[in-house]
Amino acid sequence: MAKLSLRDLDVRGKRVLVRVDFNVPIETRGGKIRITDDTRIRESLPTINYLREHGAKTILMSHFGRPKGKPVEKYSLRPIGDYLHSLIHQPVIFSHDTIGEVPAKIVEHMANGDVALLENLRFQPGEETNDPAFAKALAELGDLYMNDAFGAAHRAHASTARITKFVAKSAMGLLMEKELKHLRDGLDKPAKPFVVILGGVKVSDKIGVLNALMEKADTILIGGAMANTFLKTEGIPVGASRVESDKLDLARQLLETAKKRGVKFLVPIDAVEAEEIQPGARMRNTSRLSQQHGITEGWQAVDIGAATIALYQDEIAKAETILWNGPVGIFEIPEFAEGTIAIAEALAQSGATTIIGGGDSVTAVKQAGLADKMTFISTGGGAALELLEGKELPGVAALSEKK
Ligand code: ADP
Ligand code: 3PG
Ligand code: MG
Repeated sequence: MAKLSLRDLDVRGKRVLVRVDFNVPIETRGGKIRITDDTRIRESLPTINYLREHGAKTILMSHFGRPKGKPVEKYSLRPIGDYLHSLIHQPVIFSHDTIGEVPAKIVEHMANGDVALLENLRFQPGEETNDPAFAKALAELGDLYMNDAFGAAHRAHASTARITKFVAKSAMGLLMEKELKHLRDGLDKPAKPFVVILGGVKVSDKIGVLNALMEKADTILIGGAMANTFLKTEGIPVGASRVESDKLDLARQLLETAKKRGVKFLVPIDAVEAEEIQPGARMRNTSRLSQQHGITEGWQAVDIGAATIALYQDEIAKAETILWNGPVGIFEIPEFAEGTIAIAEALAQSGATTIIGGGDSVTAVKQAGLADKMTFISTGGGAALELLEGKELPGVAALSEKK
């Protein structure tokens, strides 16, 4: 059933609690933190600005890192509040407590259009345990609740799930709505051919997605460390490449399922191999991979090879819908980034609907300077994958139904 949206509510003069996902990557230099990718903060702006323009009192709350239920200075949201201030050109009132007297006083003195930010929710043990008392204390700060934290919607925590029991109405924020529109509705009946590119490292995390995508995809292109597990299953020597040896059977099953369903399931036909995972390491493009010619002993597959790039480019060019998760090589090292950049460029030129999910894949697309050429870039990693697997996200399920 459809969920209530921010736009369905009259927010003027109301205290609106908004769960955002400000869990952004940071770098600490000389004691100062620097946000290395502000996408999640920027993507929250439509909701924040809507609320400001409609005269709401906006109380933002988020987790940041995994401080495990106690305050950890490095994970304070204060610098993120300062950063948000610079984006919206309006002070962001910071509450160093998440619940209790401090935020209650702050909220009491807020004027319509004001924006406040609570300290990291995960400084409290009740957040991750989905504790009713903590959820209730948070809920008391607001009249309405919005969940705009798509990236955390797969977590059943106090601020994403339980809290909705204690507020009159709870709705999706604009980012949440956009993510669901593209990843759930948009991929429900994708225009065909539907091509999925899956790479990266987390084979075990992504196997479930592969199974689910097999029902919809016409073509699946495998890259990254993932590919090694499939190559090994086929008896191709993988040298010292990263392989999940306990997933070989699963990989074999997936190959069989693909065959049965008539899904074109492609694994690399050549690779870039390197002696070490290091800039400047000795490297070369292998010849055609086979049971006789695999990765050199002691060497590792670090990227898809030139023949694989050409093969994948052909499939991408034929697609109407493309979903990409997981870089096809160790793109953090420029010499090993060629395959990943080629895939990003092929997507940009394809004319298909292109959807990118996963923190590292999004980073790769941005590094290639191609982010604005994609149809949709998700702010969710785990959340996007669980949604694609067809799972219900607790942070969405908990929201009020549209009447
Ligand atoms: P995403 O964040 O997009 O979901 P993952 O986190 O699953 O992707 O994987 C990204 C990582 O996979 C990158 O850090 C990249 O270096 C690594 N990777 C890609 N190809 C290989 C490979 N052949 N061997 C080892 N690591 C790889
Ligand atoms: C993410 O970065 O994927 C989300 O913010 C969720 O963070 P978590 O994996 O620590 O729950
Ligand atoms: Mg990742």
